[in-house]
Amino acid sequence: MSAPATTIEQAIHTELAKVEDPEIHRPITELGMVDNVTVDGSHAAIRILLTIAGCPLKDTLRTDVTNAAQSVDGIESVSVDFGTMTDAQRKELQASLRGGGGAEPVIPFSQAGSRTRVFAVASGKGGVGKSSVTVNLAAALQARGLSVGVVDADIYGHSVPRMLGAGEARPTAVEDMIMPPQAHGIKLISIGMFTKGNAAVVWRGPMLHRALQQFLADVYWGELDVLLLDLPPGTGDIAISVAQLLPGAELLVVTTPQVAAAEVAERAGAIAMQTHQRVTGVVENMSWLETPDGQRMELFGSGGGGQVSEALTKRIGANVPLLGQVPLEPQLREAGDDGVPLVVKDPQRPASQALTGIADRLAVRRESLAGKPLGLSPAAKA
Ligand SMILES: Nc1ncnc2c1ncn2[C@@H]1O[C@H](COP(=O)(O)OP(=O)(O)OP(=O)(O)O)[C@@H](O)[C@H]1O
Ligand SMILES: [Mg+2]
Repeated sequence: MSAPATTIEQAIHTELAKVEDPEIHRPITELGMVDNVTVDGSHAAIRILLTIAGCPLKDTLRTDVTNAAQSVDGIESVSVDFGTMTDAQRKELQASLRGGGGAEPVIPFSQAGSRTRVFAVASGKGGVGKSSVTVNLAAALQARGLSVGVVDADIYGHSVPRMLGAGEARPTAVEDMIMPPQAHGIKLISIGMFTKGNAAVVWRGPMLHRALQQFLADVYWGELDVLLLDLPPGTGDIAISVAQLLPGAELLVVTTPQVAAAEVAERAGAIAMQTHQRVTGVVENMSWLETPDGQRMELFGSGGGGQVSEALTKRIGANVPLLGQVPLEPQLREAGDDGVPLVVKDPQRPASQALTGIADRLAVRRESLAGKPLGLSPAAKA
């Protein structure tokens, strides 16, 4: 005779508690997805409830559940069948994901004790490489083992998904929670995911504000160490919304070495004074092009990054360092076009090294925030 059924079923439950929903990244047992486990001899029949019918990650789940159950002593074969949660079960799940919160949209990152460090990537001018810097920093931070999310807050540009190879990805909905797609281990959400094709989005300030609020409150981000927001260029409505919705967000200012660009970038940084946000530093992009003979060609002049850093330090009265200079490299653009950030595709390139160096500086705990948890160690999964 085998062990009493309850014991072996409990053993299966213990193993199933190690299986995470591939989208929500929490144990399926906690999510109420394990409907039934029955053991007949050495065969286990398991019924799993999906959050949505036709869940695209069903096969992953089937494999994970089968492997987990099969690892239990005495189980030789496993069958998995799927059902779908009822509305009530989904509501319950949603409430538990939200921590039982009320109806008011709560932005987890602006709650006291949030472990997530939020960086808003801003620039004065367009086309200076904000989105490229954002995705590469995200990938470099992820490679350090941090849990990273990206909000493409550039409502008009929305180039982040393509640069991460997730141009076609769509979030899934569980009730009114939005599960963000992932690319290269990074959770991302973009307005582009909610519009048809390349339809231009013409939105006014209040709508932008609400869209951003929704991205922050209704998207299930889980425990993030770092959230990066790719802002549209300039000092527009979105920058103000970010300040209101995420008062703890820190600004990263991207500029080219060109003096004229630097002056506009300085204005983008100076807005932080009015909104009482911290400016963490300046990234100079497209600093030079290395010629085959090893010379540095300064196509856009030089000194812009340093100039913005000095000017903002003086204006704000706190050190705003130049965090790094990223050279111009065709490979960086190509990697973006291919949907693989250069720091992942070719970590040895000088541009990758520069971006990784900047990411390293961002992942350091700051003295001035001593006492406030920054959560810059990998987030706990549970
Ligand atoms: N260091 C670099 N070397 C080579 N190409 C780069 C570099 N940085 C950015 N690019 C390229 O320059 C173009 C503009 O970059 P990106 O889209 O990142 O800028 P942006 O500031 O986000 O622009 P926008 O204001 O339109 O949102 C892209 O084609 C990108 O691949
Ligand atoms: Mg952009």
